Amino acid sequence: MPAARRDEALAKPQTGVHAIAEHRGEPFSSRAFAVETFRQLAAMSHDGVGISRATYGEGETRAMEYVAGIARAEGLEVSYDAAANLVIELPGSDRTLPVVACGSHLDSVPQGGNFDGAAGVVAGLAALIRLKRSGRPSTRTVRLYALRGEESAWFGRCYMGSLSLFGRFPRDDLKAEHRDTHRPLREYMQEAGADVDLIEAGEAIIDPKSIAAFFELHIEQGPVMVARDLPIGIVTGIRGNIRHQNVVCRGEAGHSGAVPRWLRRDAVFATAELLSRVDEHWRVLMERGLDLVVTAGILSTNPAEHAMSRIPGETRMSFEVRSQSFETLEAFHHLLLTECRAVGAARKVEFTFDRRIDSKPARMDEKLVQRLLDICARLGTPTEPLPSGAGHDSAVFANAGVPSAMIFVRNQNGSHNPREAMEIDDFVAGADVLHEALRETAN
Ligand code: GLV
Ligand code: MN
Ligand code: MN
Repeated sequence: MPAARRDEALAKPQTGVHAIAEHRGEPFSSRAFAVETFRQLAAMSHDGVGISRATYGEGETRAMEYVAGIARAEGLEVSYDAAANLVIELPGSDRTLPVVACGSHLDSVPQGGNFDGAAGVVAGLAALIRLKRSGRPSTRTVRLYALRGEESAWFGRCYMGSLSLFGRFPRDDLKAEHRDTHRPLREYMQEAGADVDLIEAGEAIIDPKSIAAFFELHIEQGPVMVARDLPIGIVTGIRGNIRHQNVVCRGEAGHSGAVPRWLRRDAVFATAELLSRVDEHWRVLMERGLDLVVTAGILSTNPAEHAMSRIPGETRMSFEVRSQSFETLEAFHHLLLTECRAVGAARKVEFTFDRRIDSKPARMDEKLVQRLLDICARLGTPTEPLPSGAGHDSAVFANAGVPSAMIFVRNQNGSHNPREAMEIDDFVAGADVLHEALRETAN
């Protein structure tokens, strides 16, 4: 594409128009395809700071339409399911057999990066196009899911598209409010074309038995593979989590000079003590070898009333604990509640919690993990098995009974931030492994 036209495309991405579609007949290059697709996705989702593709919102829908346009141009079958997930299929010669599926999500956190989620969709689309252009149809249908609503950042709940697939979306979460507009999730889902009544009724969109295997490629989002100098990792299991979006500490506001220490009910000091107690439990449990990460990602006093000279009467924070063990999650949550009572009594404050949101940990399928390791060995791609600290839709597929496995691609600068980065060579190595896994499993 000439430079001037490329700049124009970057400035105004056009749904369904894609450089690769203009070069039909030339050998397919996953690299060129990925560079162009990521470029277009970034251009259509840039918010001035990072990437924002809001869950069941405009950004997510625009990205889906763009991906759907490429798939249609390639002659793949394109549809949207009852959760408004995008479904792209390359039909196999025997459509009665369970399909081989891949995919990831197309939403992002606010001011996030371009690759969290989208890398798995782009890799899946590249694989389907390669398989189609090879002219050798496989026995099983190969399906790509571009899933909705994986990120909890917008409504508090994660895995919305994948939970809905299996009739497992907690109906109370339809009332969850958007972080900015406070409109309920139900309305956003409806606007995106989802059948909310069906989701509310807990009706499954697909039978887990209709999927023989699910593969998800995803960036690692952590520093381990950079430190280990490995382009690709094969995931063995995925951490689950217990979360509260809103933990309120209520004390009493007062004059910062006039109230002596013994009469204060300071919400900030109480919250700080709670977090430092929780941090100490975390340290001790890690020393005992437990898998555990703890985060209070939101923490604030009320900006409408806080002041340097005012004892803070209220704080709000989020709380999240993640582990590969459900027992550890439960035990740590219990510890949190106990410490809230203890700090509450000592400092004369009260902690109250909004509803608890759980996501179960998951194990990847051992046979599929081995298959991915074997493919890496065959392709000469250095790799290692490793657990996933972050959550992924594959956990939902695995817990619904679909044999699932994940390919991690090394990435720089972490994730859930605008500096998130990925080398295209590493992506291509991962996309090659995904292509081989789909080809082999669908034959
Ligand atoms: C997914 O983005 C997560 O929060 O783990
Ligand atoms: Mn994410
Ligand atoms: Mn993700």
